[in-house]
Amino acid sequence: MNNQAPAHITYPKSIKSFVTRAGRTTSGQAKALADLGPRFVLAFNRDAFNAEQAFGRTAPLILEIGFGMGDATAHIAQVRPEDNFLCCEVHEPGVGALLKRMGELDLNNIRILQHDAVEVIEHMLPAESLDGVHIFFPDPWHKLRHNKRRLIQTAFVHELVKRLKPGGYIHCATDWQPYAEHILKVMQSEPGLINRSQRADSFSDQPIYRPLTKFENRGLKLGHGVWDLVFERR
Ligand SMILES: C[S@@+](CC[C@H](N)C(=O)[O-])C[C@H]1O[C@@H](n2cnc3c(N)ncnc32)[C@H](O)[C@@H]1O
Repeated sequence: MNNQAPAHITYPKSIKSFVTRAGRTTSGQAKALADLGPRFVLAFNRDAFNAEQAFGRTAPLILEIGFGMGDATAHIAQVRPEDNFLCCEVHEPGVGALLKRMGELDLNNIRILQHDAVEVIEHMLPAESLDGVHIFFPDPWHKLRHNKRRLIQTAFVHELVKRLKPGGYIHCATDWQPYAEHILKVMQSEPGLINRSQRADSFSDQPIYRPLTKFENRGLKLGHGVWDLVFERR
């Protein structure tokens, strides 16, 4: 069965790329939410995001969409202390987990928005405000009838590109080959982007800052592939 949606189709805004999952927040996550949330979790609003005010410094700004439990996020923020990371996730236990990790590692270069990243981009992020975007293992929505829920679609990528500074990048990773091919097609047909890959298959080697997650390691041991894609704004 062909598992790919045509790249040019845009979908109504009411379709979300996530489902709100019920999930237990552990006591450690709840404590982190209470102790560190007021400092590091920002409120969604419709005002232009003021990064200097939010982070207390001027630094390159990277947006991460859907950080899950935040393991990769915390690692990257630790190995790239010179960058600011604005990180979106809708799942509350994940927000608690990242805050807990931030406390353990004493990280100060992450701010969290517990909100739909599509709305954050639309309402809070001005043109040319981002130096990079990270989207790691976005929900693959395997079934053909669910492909429309995939985050990465032509219209969405176009909006992202507008928010990138020239030379800014989008880095995606996925372990689902049909989604990898779909992302490649969408990014390659976006006129504002160029592929940074030097490889014949157009995918990228895993950039050194992106750690292998537990989940990914398990997949790799089972012989599953992972595809990284890195594109740059012209
Ligand atoms: C498959 S998980 C991957 C999590 C993490 N990046 C990783 O590599 O482990 C995808 C995550 O994206 C989040 N997500 C999906 N769509 C989102 C959106 N529009 N805004 C914010 N988070 C979203 C989901 O809640 C989920 O936690």
